[in-house]
Amino acid sequence: MNFAWLKQIMPRGLYGRAALILVVPIVTIQLVVSVVFIQRHFERVTRQMTQSMLREIALVIDRADGAPSADAAQAALIDLAAPLGLDVAFVLPAVVPATDQRPFADLTGIVVIDTIRSEIPQVAAIDLRDGAKVRLYAPVRWGMLRITFPRGTVSASNPHQLLVLMLAVSVLMTVIAYLFLRNQLRPIRRLARAAEAFGKGQAMPYKPSGAIEVRAAGTAFLEMRARLERQIEQRTLMLSGISHDLRTPLTRLRLGLSMLPETPDTREEIAAMERDVAEMGKLVDAFLAFAREEATSGDAARLDPCAFVAQVVEDARRTGAQVTLHECPGPGQALLTFRPDAMRRALDNLIGNATRYGSQAEVSVFLTPKALRIVVEDDGPGIAPERREEALRPFARLDPSRNQDRGQGVGLGLSIAADILRSHGGTLRLGESARLGGLSAELVLPR
Ligand SMILES: Nc1ncnc2c1ncn2[C@@H]1O[C@H](COP(=O)(O)OP(=O)(O)OP(=O)(O)O)[C@@H](O)[C@H]1O
Ligand SMILES: [Mg+2]
Repeated sequence: MNFAWLKQIMPRGLYGRAALILVVPIVTIQLVVSVVFIQRHFERVTRQMTQSMLREIALVIDRADGAPSADAAQAALIDLAAPLGLDVAFVLPAVVPATDQRPFADLTGIVVIDTIRSEIPQVAAIDLRDGAKVRLYAPVRWGMLRITFPRGTVSASNPHQLLVLMLAVSVLMTVIAYLFLRNQLRPIRRLARAAEAFGKGQAMPYKPSGAIEVRAAGTAFLEMRARLERQIEQRTLMLSGISHDLRTPLTRLRLGLSMLPETPDTREEIAAMERDVAEMGKLVDAFLAFAREEATSGDAARLDPCAFVAQVVEDARRTGAQVTLHECPGPGQALLTFRPDAMRRALDNLIGNATRYGSQAEVSVFLTPKALRIVVEDDGPGIAPERREEALRPFARLDPSRNQDRGQGVGLGLSIAADILRSHGGTLRLGESARLGGLSAELVLPR
């Protein structure tokens, strides 16, 4: 059996599902019970009422049959009918309906007709078309007798009162259940919101509340959040500690190298060692800058992404980079929450790469209902698909000889950008620019 269609029509939210679980069984049980009960109840009441009425009718028919003459029968009926509350008269056989008559929706009428027929078989026809009266035709020795009495004496009135009452109570109970349910679901929704915000790198105040299970999940979430924050902090501390401590021996090394007596034999080697030491110094500086920036990456803010990107591009251009803003949805389209300092660094790194490895860069901003995409494209050599993952790793420099003339980086730019995106719950994607032919680096931020 395939239940995929069921999944399609089921409510997706916790509210809808809980309401379904709560309401469907209750409504079903109530409906079944009330229909069965009401039907039985009214059937029995109608039958009993009809039966007690029938004794009187049987008496009237009996008297009419037993009278010695038509006139005597008439007189006997007048005597009898009034105190019994019946209206009795002789009618012409032509007015008698051919079959029993009742309105289609008159369900207790079935029971009335059924009971009369089983108790007094000689009845010719029963007419229930007038909702307020029962007309019964019975042949006696002196002609066709029509007996009329109010319908209220054979079936219970106002059967709908019970239904209305039940409906009102059901609605009331459902409303109360919904209110309780909402209180139970609120803590779950708050936990979900806090977890989502944390995934996007935003700190949101959260305090566990609600049922024990939800509270346990909330406490576990808080502990996990604290552990992660501690880990990031430790990583930064260690990084800055090591880089800082490495500086002094490196300086000593550089000094020592410059003091070495130079001979034609050693000159080459000393120069190579000095280059190595200089590179190590650059690495240590990058490390320190990275650690420092991470520690001061600032708070999140709600900003217009287009205006933000335009500002970053403008700043880059002022420092001499060949970069233009290619496409941007009109300002004021949407506001997004992110840490502007960190995002600026990520974007600067990508623009820096594009202008270092290519000759010009273009930045575009796209807004979709689910995400913000900032794409940086260039006309450089690009990165082959199988090397893209490697390029994202820290200290990865692809093909360094190729970029010799443009000044060596340390290979941290892309990995820092990817890290920043990850901490916002987004990703950094590398691809090939269709328009410029070089690399296209895409920052994807969930909305
Ligand atoms: N736009 C690009 N076009 C071609 N190759 C690129 C581009 N961006 C990055 N690369 C390659 O990926 C490698 C890693 O880039 P990354 O930005 O991480 O380091 P880097 O630019 O070498 O140094 P840093 O950015 O730390 O100064 C680069 O060395 C380069 O070979
Ligand atoms: Mg770089």
